[in-house]
Parts: sequence; structure tokens; C-alpha cells
Amino acid sequence: MKRPRIIIVLGSTAPGGRLATLASVAEAAAVEAGAEVTRCDLSQRSIPVMCTEDAEQPTLPAVAELRREAAEADGFILLTPEYHGNMSGALKNWFDFLYLELAGKFAGLIATTGGGGGDMSISSVKNSFNWCHGFTLPFHAVGKPDDFDGDTLVSEKVRDRVQRIGHDVVRYAPVIRASFDAAKAAGPECTSGVAGTHAGDP
Ligand SMILES: Cc1cc2nc3c(=O)[nH]c(=O)nc-3n(C[C@H](O)[C@H](O)[C@H](O)COP(=O)(O)O)c2cc1C
Repeated sequence: MKRPRIIIVLGSTAPGGRLATLASVAEAAAVEAGAEVTRCDLSQRSIPVMCTEDAEQPTLPAVAELRREAAEADGFILLTPEYHGNMSGALKNWFDFLYLELAGKFAGLIATTGGGGGDMSISSVKNSFNWCHGFTLPFHAVGKPDDFDGDTLVSEKVRDRVQRIGHDVVRYAPVIRASFDAAKAAGPECTSGVAGTHAGDP
């Protein structure tokens, strides 16, 4: 059987840090669950701020790569630092380049905060993924400063939650994608549900 393809998106413009620590825990769990995992570390990508009027943007290699890898992925593990009660601008900008690539896909969500509960950044990522007709895991993980010693994760509770997300994304992403693709292929009738609204899409 083909291994599920999972992308881990690090939604920070700062490399490393606590977000990268949680990404590594999630990655190890997804690999253990049998996935082929790639990383999209937004601190290492030259992605412009999305502009609908800039015809050159879709031709930029970094933008084309972002879209290609999202289209090929079965599932996503999305990590964001909480900024002003929201996801980071970098992760929102990643979303703004995507839509059809996320439809019928599945995502698990993880946030780091400066002390807040993380619900607002998790909710914002969930909303954006859902508005792209993607499905999200009803369980998330948040790393607060007390959960770390420097960048080292010391909370076994947070580690456990992140590992569960890694396993669940690998478990559910291929199932959701296969069901959605089958419904999409069946045509635009209401019996095809939301996938039917994408009948004829690439
Ligand atoms: C512009 C900005 C806004 C922030 N807003 C929040 C916030 O609303 N709530 C919160 O708990 N932490 C907030 N923080 C703290 C970050 O969430 C925290 O530093 C970050 O998640 C740490 O992740 P890192 O170690 O990977 O850099 C903010 C930080 C910045 C730079």
C-alpha cells in the first residue's frame, strides 16, 4: 500500500524555536505511523505576500512549489505561533495561495503561545482549513512556555497530544481523501455532498 504523504507546515518566519521542537515530535510520530513526511518551513521559503493582481506570483518557483506539494499531500500537520490571538501572518499567507489543494484533505493542528491557551490560533487555522473545504482533527495540541525548558519539551502531556495528532493524521488523511475523491468523481449532484461542488475541478 502507498504510504500516506503528510506535509508538516511550520508557520513561523523565525527558524527553530519551540515550534520546531513540536514539529519534530509530530514528524517522528507520523513516520512511526507509516507516513512519507516532508516539511514546509516557512522561515526557509521566499513566499511573497499574496496579491491577486500580481500575475507574476503564480510563476515564482517558491509559489509553484508550495502549491505542488500541497496538491500532492494527503494530509497536513499545521503549526503556528499564536500572534495577537490568531495564526501567524506567514501561515495565513500560505493559506491565501491555496484552496483546491486543500479541499478534501485532512489536517491536525498545533500551536505555541507566549502564555495564552492557544484556542484562538487553533480556531483560526481550523476556520481557514475548513473554508478551503478541508477536514480537521477534533483534537489539538498547544505548547506554552512552561511546557518547555528553553526549546526542549518537558511536558509529557503536550508530547502525548502531539504524538496522537501525528498518528491520527496518518490514520485519517488517506481515508478522507479517498472518500472525497470518489464523491467528486461521481459528479455535481447533491448526493456527492461538498465534494460534488468540486466536480470538474483539476
Ligand atoms: C507579534 C506577536 C504577537 C503575539 N501574540 C501572542 C498572543 O496573542 N498570545 C500569546 O499567548 N502569545 C503571543 N505571542 C507570543 C508567541 O506566541 C510566542 O513567542 C511564540 O509562540 C513562541 O514560539 P517559538 O518559540 O517557536 O518562536 C506573540 C508574539 C509576537 C511576536
